[in-house]
Amino acid sequence: MTDTHMPKDKGLDHTLKLLDEAYRFITNRSEKFESRVFETTLLGEKTICMVGKKEAEVFYDNTKFSRKGASPGRIQKTLFGEGGVQGLDGKEHHHRKEMFMSLMTKEGLKQISAILQQEWEREMERQSKEEIQVYQAAKYVLTRSALRWTGVPYQESEIPEWTDQLSDMFEDAGSVGLSHWQARRSRSKAEKEVVDLVENVRAGETKVSEDSPVYHFAMHRDLNGELLDAQIVAVELLNLLRPIVAIAVYIDFLILAVHDYPEKVSQLENEDDLQHFIQEVRRFYPFFPVAPARVKEDFSWNGYTFEKGTLTLLDLYGTNHDPEIWDNPDTFQPERFQTWEGSPFDFIPQGGGEFNIGHRCAGEWITIDILKVTLDFFVHRLSFDFPEQDLDYKMNDIPPVPESGVVIKNVHLK
Ligand code: HEM
Repeated sequence: MTDTHMPKDKGLDHTLKLLDEAYRFITNRSEKFESRVFETTLLGEKTICMVGKKEAEVFYDNTKFSRKGASPGRIQKTLFGEGGVQGLDGKEHHHRKEMFMSLMTKEGLKQISAILQQEWEREMERQSKEEIQVYQAAKYVLTRSALRWTGVPYQESEIPEWTDQLSDMFEDAGSVGLSHWQARRSRSKAEKEVVDLVENVRAGETKVSEDSPVYHFAMHRDLNGELLDAQIVAVELLNLLRPIVAIAVYIDFLILAVHDYPEKVSQLENEDDLQHFIQEVRRFYPFFPVAPARVKEDFSWNGYTFEKGTLTLLDLYGTNHDPEIWDNPDTFQPERFQTWEGSPFDFIPQGGGEFNIGHRCAGEWITIDILKVTLDFFVHRLSFDFPEQDLDYKMNDIPPVPESGVVIKNVHLK
């Protein structure tokens, strides 16, 4: 096929438009150019944007794209940390990813679900029954669950600080000014605490279960048979703790969906129904907007040239709302998942492709199980009402953390 010109966004730089249009930035341009691939300029750099299933297949082809230097420095200093699995390629990535994936066994998933169930019960017994802000409550429940599941020792009095530190890293990851610095401070502080823990575990001064993720990561050896630098272990342990707490964003949307679609809630009878409902929550609501990579070597695809080193963004939100894949993508229809064929490239709220050899989210199964347990708990174990409230969220806030959060009242365990 002869190469054609990739459509190009006119103008010098589109970073401000990206901040303004956020989740719709790529789809808006893709529709305007009638092309699923186009070029723009972001932070002064030529950037290719892609959306769609075939495009996801190319994006997750490890021979075509690399992760080295793909995430902006400010995101690494807040959200991901430096030197973690997200920025690795090839064998090194595969080996490190295995360290994560080996935790995601049936047993590991059962444990975290059981812990979460207990923590929801405790939280609802502890909280005032008058009004509960779901997002805040979920962050506490998830922080306790994450620390317990990973085996990080903690005192109950430390929970508010852990919750704030872990939340700052994802709530303020992309922001500028003071909140960005707050996120960096929280990351540095948490990394330091976890480095101390790793060193103490290695020295035998702090005893943790040998089955725990903390022990597993602290004792993990790289491809040369060396223990990882304690700083890298801390980054990777925070790659478990932080995103588990971030599931609070989905939980807030989950309960918003319970509020907005009561007719769908009344149809929740069995495990499959719960699964379809939470999958639709992950498809429908905005969370992670894009995945970034860089072109590994020059290649041509669909008539377009991809030059080595070019930053490329795959639109996760846009692919989950692509009318070529989803009928009526902007309506909430859990039943659509009854017939979803399970492609790793069309439903990609947590990235696409393979778990082990690719960069698909290591915690996707945990996320699914946590959402299922939470939905079951709220719908079948709790009775509550929704007070009058403003349930709007902003489509240009990443992630769209609810300002007031969904509030429930008259809460009782059934
Ligand atoms: C809160 C909901 C979550 C969302 C929306 C989410 C989203 C994502 C996305 C979009 C990626 C990148 C995919 C790519 O680069 O192609 C990712 C990677 C990752 N996620 Fe998640 N995630 C969530 C929860 C979790 C949880 C609960 C864990 C751990 C327990 C986790 C651990 C990871 C790790 C370690 C990676 C890096 C994988 C790699 O580079 O190979 N995430 N996640």
